[in-house]
Parts: sequence; C-alpha cells; structure tokens
Amino acid sequence: MSVHIGANQGDIAEAILLPGDPLRAQYIAENFLEDAVKYNDVRGMYGFTGTYKGKRVSVQGTGMGVPSISIYAHELINEFGVKKLIRVGTCGAIQKDVKVRDVILGMSATTNSGVNQHEFKGIDFAPTADFSLLKKAYDGAVAQGLSVNVGNVFTSDIFYNEDKDLIPMLARHQVLAVEMESSALYTLAARFGVQALSVLTVSDHIITGEETSSQERQETFNEMVHVALAAAVA
Ligand code: HPA
Repeated sequence: MSVHIGANQGDIAEAILLPGDPLRAQYIAENFLEDAVKYNDVRGMYGFTGTYKGKRVSVQGTGMGVPSISIYAHELINEFGVKKLIRVGTCGAIQKDVKVRDVILGMSATTNSGVNQHEFKGIDFAPTADFSLLKKAYDGAVAQGLSVNVGNVFTSDIFYNEDKDLIPMLARHQVLAVEMESSALYTLAARFGVQALSVLTVSDHIITGEETSSQERQETFNEMVHVALAAAVA
C-alpha cells in the first residue's frame, strides 16, 4: 500500500477515472463497471477496480483541490503504475456560449495555485491534456450527440473568490470554465510521462447564474462517465 491508498500491487488498473467525490467513485463502480471490487477506503476515499467492455478500469475519489488530487495522482502513478488518468468532474462556466449541462474537455489548465509557481521557479508552465485521450473523448462525445467544448479551463485554489475582476479577465482570454484540480493532474502526468485528461460537465454558470437540478446533474454525470470510460478503454 502507499501512504494514502490501501491497495496491493496489481489491484489498480492502468486506466482510471478520477471523480472528486468518493461516493461518485462508488456510483460509477456500481452502475458502470462489472465485477467491481473496492481496493481502498482509507479516509473514506473509495477506490474500485472492475471491467468496462471487458477491459480493466479503476475509479478513485480524489477529494477537492490541487493538494488533494496531487496526492492521489502521485501515488497512483508512482506506486501503482497507473498510465491513463481521466478526471470526471464539474465546473462553473464563464463563457456565454457555454451552457449548463455541456461537456467541457480541458485542453489546458490555467491556475492561480501556488504549487507550479513554486515548483517551476516562477516560470509559467502550461499544464496540457494528453492529445490522444482528448481526441478519443471528443470523438466519443460528438458520437453521443453531446454539446462539447474544448479549451482552457481555470484551476482555482479558491472556490469563494473575493476578486470580482478575475473571472471577467479570464473570460476575455477565452477560458471556458472554473474548476479546482486539472492543472495539478496535467502537471503530474507530464512529469511522470503518463496520459491525463479532464472531462467536465457544467454544473453552474458563473456569468448567468444558471444552475442544474440534482436530476440534471445525475444525467449529465452519466453522459460524462460514458465519454470518459470509452476514452479510457479505447
Ligand atoms: N468554482 C470552482 N469549481 C467549481 C465550480 C466553481 O464555480 N463549479 C463547479 N466546480
């Protein structure tokens, strides 16, 4: 086992879905995977491995924010040999032509997290998705008839942000949406030479104030999981 994941070597598949919420990990395991077995419940951060269309896939909760996902991604890659990491999460849209319930594929992730500033000695590293995962997810989403947007997302360290000028400035630079994990996932994947992608659904619209109902969130979550699983096993 690693420091935060109570699994044995070989328990975790090379392809993994990463929801922030561990109960979403359980939901994915119960509703999308066959023969799913729980390999982790340390800190209640559930992880499961099963099969999807005959191929082994795992799903692991990451918690919220850059520090939390960084711990899980680091251990999954370095201690358990995970090679394809696909975050499945929600985001708040900041472009008028991006609608609630849309899918967003994060091609790149701008961030206000201090982690990369520190690690890269002040250089602005550009955290970037893996192109082949991005293409597979895009093609799959289009084939499913989903409204899909591809572009830059903002990984924020602050959910309740006091700076009212920040979001309009990012929106002017074509950033599509705000979330809290992708820059860390992409940076660690690059560092260790593995593939990563964030598949996000728009749960709320920061400009228009529009929100999704819990039933809509469930439906869009299911659509997103289909896109992510198809890309994971392709
Ligand atoms: N901010 C940050 N993360 C989010 C949001 C948001 O508005 N909505 C969903 N995830």
